Amino acid sequence: MDFARQLISWYLKNKRDFPWRNTNDPYKIWLSEIILQQTRTGQGHDYYLKFIRLFPDLHSLSKATEEQVLKLWQGLGYYSRARNLLAASKEIVSKHNGRFPSTYHELLQLKGIGPYTAAAVASIAFGEPVPVIDGNVMRVISRWFAIREPVDKTEGKKMIKQSLEDIFDKNNPAVFNQAIMDFGAIVCKPKNPACFSCVFNQNCQSLNLKIVNQIPVKSKISNQRKRYFNYLVILFEKNQQKMILLQKRKPGDIWSGLYDFPLIESFGELNAEQLTSTTQWKIYFDGLDPVIAETSPIFNHQLTHQLLLVRFYLIKLNQAFSTSFLFQEITLPDIPKYPVPRLIEKYLKEHNYLEHFS
Ligand code: ADE
Repeated sequence: MDFARQLISWYLKNKRDFPWRNTNDPYKIWLSEIILQQTRTGQGHDYYLKFIRLFPDLHSLSKATEEQVLKLWQGLGYYSRARNLLAASKEIVSKHNGRFPSTYHELLQLKGIGPYTAAAVASIAFGEPVPVIDGNVMRVISRWFAIREPVDKTEGKKMIKQSLEDIFDKNNPAVFNQAIMDFGAIVCKPKNPACFSCVFNQNCQSLNLKIVNQIPVKSKISNQRKRYFNYLVILFEKNQQKMILLQKRKPGDIWSGLYDFPLIESFGELNAEQLTSTTQWKIYFDGLDPVIAETSPIFNHQLTHQLLLVRFYLIKLNQAFSTSFLFQEITLPDIPKYPVPRLIEKYLKEHNYLEHFS
């Protein structure tokens, strides 16, 4: 039996049951594929259902605000996915009369849709014979063919693409693509692949050569950047209401469009004395008498290419904040209405900041 037939036969017996697998609706398939990038299927599943409940079709999504979409996306990370989802839905309504583009090349023109998503939607929703290449597929192919070229370099990528085209089932693109992704996720896993029970264990080149654990090869040494965030959690009262300051993050940096606290970013770790000597601190609190009520330990927050080292300073003010035009004054009960990064959400949940008013 050839690779594709054997793979599909495995899939029909072992496939995972997901809500987006019971539909041909390109909107739902697109949404699921965007959610599943960089996200585990278990977590993706819950977000998918939340999304479909609030935005059951393209038109309802296209009428949403960015803040609504970001709020719904809160906790999933990679927020540009949510912003692009909204932008693409508006584009489809305005430029395509609400008709979902149906070919790989048309799909590629949309915001946030790259070769992977275009191939997934074109094949799964419209049956176009284009293979998908994601991390799972690269692993399966590089192991099956024992490709030792780094898969993150041009040469390795080319070899994977060509090898995949050789075994791709043009007559069953939707099934083949989903099958190879499921197979990578369930059997040909990054660590502890289930080679012993694998249907390909007679002919897998890497298994025969006993190099499964060395493949796929990656060349990249991560060029991770360290950033030091000193968050100012500023509490004060105004008109007998308990207030906090949030800022909407600007485009061009992480978490654009989400809200966090006033931030002093530094080149290294600062203690309270160093922090209060910074120019930013002096500008923010000019003429005021801030009291640092609490200093948190440093939290490490890992993003894809950045490690954030974050400290939260709880600051009480007995006057309204004079430079609050830089930030948004929000009453404490209103905080949950704002989309915030996971890190801030965790801090807010774990920290009973209401106490500090008493
Ligand atoms: N991961 C992302 N999209 C997927 C799909 N359609 N099937 C299986 N795994 C996936």
